[in-house]
Amino acid sequence: MGEDSPRLAAFSQIEDGGFAEAEAMIEGDAESLILHRDGDSIRAWLNICPHAGRRLDWAPGQFLKSREGHLVCAVHGATFELSGGVCVAGPCRGESLRPVAVAVRDGDVVLDSP
Ligand code: FES
Repeated sequence: MGEDSPRLAAFSQIEDGGFAEAEAMIEGDAESLILHRDGDSIRAWLNICPHAGRRLDWAPGQFLKSREGHLVCAVHGATFELSGGVCVAGPCRGESLRPVAVAVRDGDVVLDSP
């Protein structure tokens, strides 16, 4: 508490509607995160697919987006809607990505610690 959150990314470097990958310590573990920009807001989830526990990007920070605007896991094609991170098609339909609280402060995306 009271410690500065390290910067995950520069908000302006994430394209609107696009993704970025960042590394962060979550509950003492080094984790990869999916960052998704939606207009002026940012959302984040652990970069762990609920299907088989793999990363969703095909190369670091390279995420697939479907024509419908969903995030698609590069491994077996699980498809996630981007408001709540729920799998809407594919092998883990109905399961969800694990959300991570993030915020934008002074133009930087940071972990939003309570
Ligand atoms: S690990 Fe993502 S769809 Fe299988």
